[in-house]
Amino acid sequence: MSFDGRKEIRNFVNESQANKVDIAANFAVYANRQDINRFLALHELFKLQMPVKGSIVECGVYSGSSLFSFAHFSGIYEPSNYHREIIGFDTFQGFPSWSDKDEFEPSRGIFRIKQCKCGISKKSLSRR
Ligand SMILES: C[S@@+](CC[C@H](N)C(=O)[O-])C[C@H]1O[C@@H](n2cnc3c(N)ncnc32)[C@H](O)[C@@H]1O
Repeated sequence: MSFDGRKEIRNFVNESQANKVDIAANFAVYANRQDINRFLALHELFKLQMPVKGSIVECGVYSGSSLFSFAHFSGIYEPSNYHREIIGFDTFQGFPSWSDKDEFEPSRGIFRIKQCKCGISKKSLSRR
């Protein structure tokens, strides 16, 4: 089974009897191939940076998917590395403007989170 687009996923989630916790725990059932591929790419990126000392800083976290993925990977692969902090920044206002060098022109404010649905501003990043 695979999904072509967000609308199809949304319909599948809406029709599902599962609660939100079950949906999150079984995310592979509800995610599409691109989402899983992205998650795996983040995993590869995380492994590549493991030999490097220091923290991970994400500038522009949006919904926090990458940020929390890195926090989970850090907890799994290096549970006793107390020096690795996973730090995220965001204005949650979306992109204010773009440069002439940008290859596409996103709408001003694209990726803005009007109402934080994910609770990222409240959720602390605990790796353990
Ligand atoms: C494309 S999204 C980020 C996606 C995220 N990195 C991911 O992997 O899912 C861009 C984010 O950058 C944020 N942003 C844009 N300009 C910013 C700035 N000057 N400072 C902090 N965050 C900013 C936006 O609010 C938006 O959430």
